[in-house]
Formats: sequence, C-alpha cells, structure tokens
Amino acid sequence: MTDISSSEVGYGGVAGRIAAVTGAAQGIGRAVAEALLAGGARVALLDVRAPEDRLALDQADNTMFAECDVTSESSVDAAFSVVEAAWGPVDILVNNAGIFAIQPLEETDLGDWDQMMAVNLTGCFLCSKRVLPKMRERGWGRVISIGSSAGKTGGSKNAAAYGASKAGVMALAKAIATEYAPFGITSNALAPALINTDMVAGIADLADRIPVGRLGRPTDVAQAVLFLAGEQAEFITGEVMDVNGGFLID
Ligand SMILES: NC(=O)c1ccc[n+]([C@@H]2O[C@H](COP(=O)([O-])OP(=O)(O)OC[C@H]3O[C@@H](n4cnc5c(N)ncnc54)[C@H](O)[C@@H]3O)[C@@H](O)[C@H]2O)c1
Repeated sequence: MTDISSSEVGYGGVAGRIAAVTGAAQGIGRAVAEALLAGGARVALLDVRAPEDRLALDQADNTMFAECDVTSESSVDAAFSVVEAAWGPVDILVNNAGIFAIQPLEETDLGDWDQMMAVNLTGCFLCSKRVLPKMRERGWGRVISIGSSAGKTGGSKNAAAYGASKAGVMALAKAIATEYAPFGITSNALAPALINTDMVAGIADLADRIPVGRLGRPTDVAQAVLFLAGEQAEFITGEVMDVNGGFLID
C-alpha cells in the first residue's frame, strides 16, 4: 500500500532566503515584506520614503530599510549594494513599487505618462536587471512582479497610462521567465484588483463590484507572493495570477 505520509506535496517555504521588496513602506509591499519575514526570510524593504518604524527595521537582524527610487539606476544599484554588503545576494525580488492616476487620456501629458512608465515599468526592469546575474550564478531565484487587472483590461476608466504600464509589467515578467528558466529562476506576475490601500482610497463603492463581497486585503496579495516565492512553485513560471475576488475572471 502507498505510504501517504511520504507525499512530495507541501510548502517548502522561504526560510533562510534573502528577499527585497520595492515600495515596501506601506500597503501591499509592507504586507508582502511581513509575510516573507514570517516565513523565515530576511527582508530588505526598499522605498523612496522611509516608513515610521525605519529604526526598528534597521535594528532587527532579519529586516532592513534601504532608500531606493526604482526609477533611478544609480539609486537601485546603491540600495541592492547595501543589501548585498549586509546579507549577500538577493534570492527573492518582489517588484511592487507603483503609482496610480485616474486621468483621461487627453489630460495626460508626456511628463505624466513618462513618470507612470518610469515607476511602474522601468522600475521592474532596473531592479530585475540588478539581481538576475547573481541569481543566475547561484542557479536559484524568484522574481515576482505586481501587475494589475488594469494591465489586462486597460483599467475601468481613465487609466490609460496606468493600464499600459501594468501590461508592460506582466509582459516583462513573462520575458524574464523565458530567458531565465534554464537557470533555476522563475518569474511570475500577480494581477490584483481593488486591494484596500491608500492607492484606491477615495474611489467609491468598490466592494459592490467584487463578487466575493469585500475589498481585497494586502495580505491576500502577500499570500500569493509567499506561495510563488517558495520551493513548491519551482515549476510555475511566466504566469499571471489574479488576486481579485472574482472582479475579473478571464
Ligand atoms: N491597491 C490596489 O488595488 C492595487 C491593484 C492592482 C495593483 N496594485 C499594485 O500594487 C502595488 C502596491 O500598491 P499599493 O496599493 O500598496 O499602493 P501604495 O500607494 O499604498 O504603496 C506604493 C508604495 O510604492 C512606493 N513608491 C512609489 N514610487 C516609488 C519609487 N519611485 N521608488 C520606490 N518606491 C516607490 C510608495 O512610497 C509606496 O510605499 C503597486 O504596484 C500597484 O500598482 C495595487
């Protein structure tokens, strides 16, 4: 008879891994950082803006804050160099930093457009490019990028720049998956929608639009990141996982 206790199915977790989460001062990034930390990883929180508890983060052995503007290659390089000097190369990169704007197309000037692309898309490119060579050398890595349902639909209304930037994030995640699959590196994206953070504050009646009947929580996204970051997800790459309570079923 088969010994069912010897199943190879289970959660390998992220214990002992070194993770970096961009845009981690608040919201989804913060929840992702906390989930990875609870899973036993050491977590660097990267952001343009320091969180209020920066000191406590820096004093703990398994967390640190590093100032990082993901739009700037020199800032990205400096932040990852700080992490590497303290702990070693990054195993798990979560590209989460992002901005959002509701802005009709004709009111979107080139500066608005460029800024949206710079933070949401170029930031993923710069951070991924910074960590991938060392992941490849070590034959293991996870890149998880936060896209959006707006990257599939174009956004509900008046969010052309945001939707286009997030479509780019999800295509970049797939391109990295193809290029780095032979090296033990997976790359996946999430497509959340209507997660209760500052980003969606002020948009009315959101919960009514979600079949499960509530807004998403940052921890809903963090759970999905934790799954993709662990050993158990080594055969999942180039995927875009919806985290949206049924808001968009495609
Ligand atoms: N909240 C939602 O409903 C939702 C839905 C889909 C996707 N997302 C995506 O999830 C991610 C996190 O969003 P959130 O809701 O937590 O938003 P948020 O505004 O609460 O947090 C965004 C974080 O990114 C940081 N950031 C902004 N510009 C940066 C830069 N140039 N360099 C580094 N950090 C920078 C901010 O300081 C902030 O801490 C974003 O990429 C967003 O587009 C959010």
